[in-house]
Amino acid sequence: MERQFCLEGKTPFGVRLPARSLISLAVPHPLDNPTMDRVLEPELMDDQEQAQAYARADFSEENQYFIDEFCRRFPDFLSGHVVDLGCGPADIPIRLVRARPDCTVTGIDASLPMIQLGEAAIAVAQLHNRVQLRCEPIQQICLPEPAGAVISNSLLHHLPDPMDFWTAIKQVAKPAAPVLIMDLIRPESTTAAQTIVDQYAHHTPDILRRDFYNSLLAAFTLEEMSVQLAASGLGHFVVTQPDDRHWIAAGHLAE
Ligand SMILES: C[S@@+](CC[C@H](N)C(=O)[O-])C[C@H]1O[C@@H](n2cnc3c(N)ncnc32)[C@H](O)[C@@H]1O
Repeated sequence: MERQFCLEGKTPFGVRLPARSLISLAVPHPLDNPTMDRVLEPELMDDQEQAQAYARADFSEENQYFIDEFCRRFPDFLSGHVVDLGCGPADIPIRLVRARPDCTVTGIDASLPMIQLGEAAIAVAQLHNRVQLRCEPIQQICLPEPAGAVISNSLLHHLPDPMDFWTAIKQVAKPAAPVLIMDLIRPESTTAAQTIVDQYAHHTPDILRRDFYNSLLAAFTLEEMSVQLAASGLGHFVVTQPDDRHWIAAGHLAE
């Protein structure tokens, strides 16, 4: 069985690939090449020290790449209301409203410490009029109006039931809304996960290295995520792999 993924030419986080080439990844039969089972991590990042470490970490390259991808893939979405599922300390909502001056963002996160850190960042950026945060689980969102677009970075792997995520996306947004999702890919083994942590997070505090490792083990494979998309009626989304540890899914909801 083969699945085609579009690998982008210059990858954002250090891996170089041929320019915008479509490649075929052979998806092995599970018995031929056993992939490590998913290991759940705590759903919420609601420990104060953990949230602070995450908010202090430098995700600027990754987060700006996510915003650039949103603008590149949806160049006509210049104004409107965007929902960010699992917004954490709100760096992505802040970057998005700066990149799209006629957009507003509602960030949703069920961790109170994350929301408080996000509110502080929004205050420093003086963007309270354009970025609002809500402390609630995505499984229970009830917005006054459906959003014009949905974004989410690094939330899906936190959820015990991934279908909660795809259901929420369809619930919060208008028909035909643009959607951009990015998350981690689960490596084939704990050794491979540790190698990724050592390679990309060798300079970060232990608490972040622990969370990164746990997140890699909790993440989905490309194949699992593609099955989820199909089961959600989102099988038309384009799935790309920008580097050795992330996937991106992008598309429009049905009309
Ligand atoms: C790894 S962080 C990503 C934060 C942000 N999107 C970013 O890219 O920096 C995942 C966030 O999802 C939140 N989260 C996990 N499960 C959630 C749920 N069911 N509803 C809302 N937020 C959730 C966690 O509290 C955490 O802040």
